[in-house]
Amino acid sequence: MRFTGTMKVNAKGNLEIGGCDTVDLAQNFGTPLYIMDEAYFRANCRAYYGAFNKHGADAVYAGKSLLTLSICRIVDEEGLSLDVVSGGELYTAIQSGFPMSRVYFHGNNKSADEIRMALAAGVHRFVMDSFDEIDLLDTLAQEVRLIANVLLRLTPGIEAHTHEYVRTGQIDSKFGFVVPNGQARDAVNTVLSRENLQLRGLHCHIGSQIFELKPFGDAAEILLSIARQARDENGWVCEELNLGGGLGIHYAEGDDPPSIADLAGTVIRTVQDTAARFSVPAPKVLVEPGRSISGPAGTTLYTVGSVKTIPDVRTYVAVDGGMGDNPRPALYGSVYEACLANRPLEERTAKVSIAGRYCESGDMLIWDAKLPLPRVGDLLAVGVTGAYNYAMAMNYNRFPRPAMVLVRDGEAELIVRRESYADLIRNDVIPGRLRKQHD
Ligand code: LLP
Repeated sequence: MRFTGTMKVNAKGNLEIGGCDTVDLAQNFGTPLYIMDEAYFRANCRAYYGAFNKHGADAVYAGKSLLTLSICRIVDEEGLSLDVVSGGELYTAIQSGFPMSRVYFHGNNKSADEIRMALAAGVHRFVMDSFDEIDLLDTLAQEVRLIANVLLRLTPGIEAHTHEYVRTGQIDSKFGFVVPNGQARDAVNTVLSRENLQLRGLHCHIGSQIFELKPFGDAAEILLSIARQARDENGWVCEELNLGGGLGIHYAEGDDPPSIADLAGTVIRTVQDTAARFSVPAPKVLVEPGRSISGPAGTTLYTVGSVKTIPDVRTYVAVDGGMGDNPRPALYGSVYEACLANRPLEERTAKVSIAGRYCESGDMLIWDAKLPLPRVGDLLAVGVTGAYNYAMAMNYNRFPRPAMVLVRDGEAELIVRRESYADLIRNDVIPGRLRKQHD
């Protein structure tokens, strides 16, 4: 596991993050525990702000990767915009006091209630995904006598090399209006014909955990070709070109993503050059990074509960979490790296597989990890868990979801409380006929 952000080994020989000894964190907050390195999260926000916002572009943090009230506060302080995809994410942003003038509302099937909520809140942009949604937004905006500002999500027909489930740019996708078959053009015309909708620009998101820059440039060109067509046919000027998220990050050996500055260089240059070539005004460039901001800044801490060696087969090291707090290995075959937080420098002489505690054979966090032979009670730190871990956590087997602490300069503050057993039954209801007599 690479030591990144503020990670280091302290004088006691323990892993330290944000100036906090992880052994103390485990003692004070329990495990499994999500640890968020505030300085690192902020540094990633600043890298985007510096590479995009300072050049007239805009970086929009994708809340789907990790959203809590405190995360919203930090993103706001760092000056980024925010992408929400559901009533729940929007509610979180509203409750945190995030300025709605910087909120983009996504989702491929927004409900009428969610759209009403977003209209009332005054979100900055609605990103439209289907003709039905255009109709719905137009009708609901009319009801409240508002003009909704719209981006159209297009499917450019690009296949980025990434896992099938997070690939979204290809034509056969549930997302967006297809470019090559003319649907995108129809969608532009439809929005332009609606009185309560104002078409501000075009959007696409070609996938996630992408290591090449070329597909981003290609997508920009395709979107601009639609912008040119609409300008020629209707005189419409595309003000914004949103190229989505997707920049990959380093999870494990062999992952070699481009930098945020390189992404900015490629997309801003491509948009400017292509716009000039197409003789259309260069639109403002937007990107929607999630993983590359939150992912590297998160670490999950577990306690080893059992070490089982099957001679000549393998050693299973079971920890007190698993697919409930990190479903990514089970879902996508994602690879993570780890270290023992209480003896990070000891020689890694063993090859062990880290098992979760959920009732599924597929609940394995890491296969064949190189570690010092773990012992019961050791603390295992899994790196790069800030994105799509807490965000995708679940209560399978009725295990409560872990707490999250924000660490900075030696201080650790709780930003998500650990779920209690009482939380687990909070929404359960027993109809009268099933109640025990004395209830
Ligand atoms: N914008 C849109 C429209 C998106 O759909 C996504 C991610 C993003 C931005 C942010 O992409 P990022 O920068 O985080 O790659 N659960 C999967 C990832 C799903 C990504 C969904 N969309 C995983 O754990 O790998």
